Amino acid sequence: MRYALVWSIFFCLMALMACLGGMLPKASAAGAGEHKILVAYFSWSGTTKQVAEQIGRETGGTLFEIQPETPYPTEYQACLDAASKEVAAKARPAIRPQVEQMDSYDVVFIGFPIWWYNAPMIVDTFLESYDFAGKTVIPFCTSGGSPIGVAMDKIRLHCPNSTVLDGLTANRTADIPAWIQKLGFAK
Ligand SMILES: Cc1cc2nc3c(=O)[nH]c(=O)nc-3n(C[C@H](O)[C@H](O)[C@H](O)COP(=O)(O)O)c2cc1C
Repeated sequence: MRYALVWSIFFCLMALMACLGGMLPKASAAGAGEHKILVAYFSWSGTTKQVAEQIGRETGGTLFEIQPETPYPTEYQACLDAASKEVAAKARPAIRPQVEQMDSYDVVFIGFPIWWYNAPMIVDTFLESYDFAGKTVIPFCTSGGSPIGVAMDKIRLHCPNSTVLDGLTANRTADIPAWIQKLGFAK
């Protein structure tokens, strides 16, 4: 009789734990298949574009290139000057074209080169052009050595109601597939 009572309590506890387990959010992220992923990027000389394309392959996400309506100068010093003027003027350079059905994406990777230790002003334009509330935003950058840290502050400011994950400085030694795997967005 006593054993029956012990077993009944044990089974009740197990059933309760199973119930609670089903109600609690899962600790690990769901796979890419359960998400609609956008990989948006700006790239002046092609490095960030390569990283974005790799992220696109790893996640199965849709690529979107952020393009300035007025192209930046192709010569390095002229581009440095143009970028520096944009920072000073807090410019919002116009973007063309636009993302179709942004509402349908729940995960947005956003990539850019570091310009003057921060994300280029065109990234501000992009982030101000859409509502990222409720989305998971994952920044990544390439650079000549500067880390993504300062740009993260800017992105968090633009996306107050999003889950902004730690950004990746995708330098040459960065293991993109391992990063995507760790995030739980591998396809
Ligand atoms: C206007 C401009 C400003 C830059 N400022 C920085 C910087 O502050 N720190 C840095 O490490 N690299 C800087 N770089 C180098 C780029 O971040 C780096 O070459 C990047 O990988 C280029 O990416 P992209 O090919 O996608 O344009 C700058 C490059 C340009 C053109």
